[in-house]
Amino acid sequence: MTSYKELGLVNTREMFAKAVAGGYAIPAFNFNTLEQMQAIIQAAVETKSPVIMQVSKGARNYANGTILRYMAQGAVEYAKELGCENPQIVLHLDHGDTFELCKDCIDNGFSSVMIDGSSLPYEENIALTKKVVEYAHKYDVTVEAELGVLAGVEDEVASEVSHYTKPEEVVDFSTRSGCDSLAISIGTSHGAYKFTPEQCTRDPKTGKLVPPPLAFDILHEIEKRLPGFPIVLHGSSSVPQDEVDTINAHGGKLPDAVGIPEEQLREASKSAVCKINIDSDSRLAMTAAIRKHFDEKPGDFDPRQYLKPARENMKKMYIHKIVEVLGSNNKL
Ligand code: G3H
Ligand code: 13P
Ligand code: ZN
Repeated sequence: MTSYKELGLVNTREMFAKAVAGGYAIPAFNFNTLEQMQAIIQAAVETKSPVIMQVSKGARNYANGTILRYMAQGAVEYAKELGCENPQIVLHLDHGDTFELCKDCIDNGFSSVMIDGSSLPYEENIALTKKVVEYAHKYDVTVEAELGVLAGVEDEVASEVSHYTKPEEVVDFSTRSGCDSLAISIGTSHGAYKFTPEQCTRDPKTGKLVPPPLAFDILHEIEKRLPGFPIVLHGSSSVPQDEVDTINAHGGKLPDAVGIPEEQLREASKSAVCKINIDSDSRLAMTAAIRKHFDEKPGDFDPRQYLKPARENMKKMYIHKIVEVLGSNNKL
């Protein structure tokens, strides 16, 4: 058993309480690679922001769970080396789908886990979440649950339609499951194609797709019923059009990719939404920089030559999210 406390990590409890009270949100960035980890930590340290580094089941399969855990430990030491005296870094399991996976992460240094029972019938979601909570709380690990289903693909949990969270269920669900935070469905979804062109309108000037607004009425109703309770938004990449254009200009093919407008995330951050998940924007920033680099310097073959600009571009994006969208800068 390795406790996250030995690794210098923190759970989400205090961080979320401060974020809800302060009207900002903590960034939850997914990572699979060294360059993502470095960029996340550099951005968090430079902006003096707490940060959640999250690992999906797919990331564990790609990079190996043990390696990622040591990378998180390394991230804490790296933050200190960069001058941050008291880094507030959470290592979080994203979309855990079984008790066994959550237990394995808790036993191996994670400070927070998500148990995603959103595709299960209501009572089964409560029972599974409660089982994870009972185990996690013994070790002071915090637990995120999910109620309502996001459109698109949630790791191995597939759903073709979005089922918004029902506000009338949130008090019963959070009380009986004992979860520490709740991911809700109000119209966000995973990936770079969050809406079909048919669901959007087109800006007549630019020709770009304008997505439908998030269901803020549902968010406000949930907040009213669960005052001060930490709410989480998944699928919150904005799919920056300049990155999409760079990718498409350098041999990529991402037609009509569309995300959540940043103004709406800025508005959500001021509410009880205290964790905002961003993965796709990091993938786009990395891919755009690498495609551009290869186009301009076809002779390069040392990975450091193209991963360095990729890392810089991700760092720029992370800083932008922290300062301009979530407002978690200067909160250490
Ligand atoms: O919610 C999904 C995250 O973006 C993780 O994606 O399962 O491909 O690592 P992944
Ligand atoms: P995006 O695909 O919008 O980045 O969402 C990531 C996410 O929700 C991870 O759990
Ligand atoms: Zn997610």
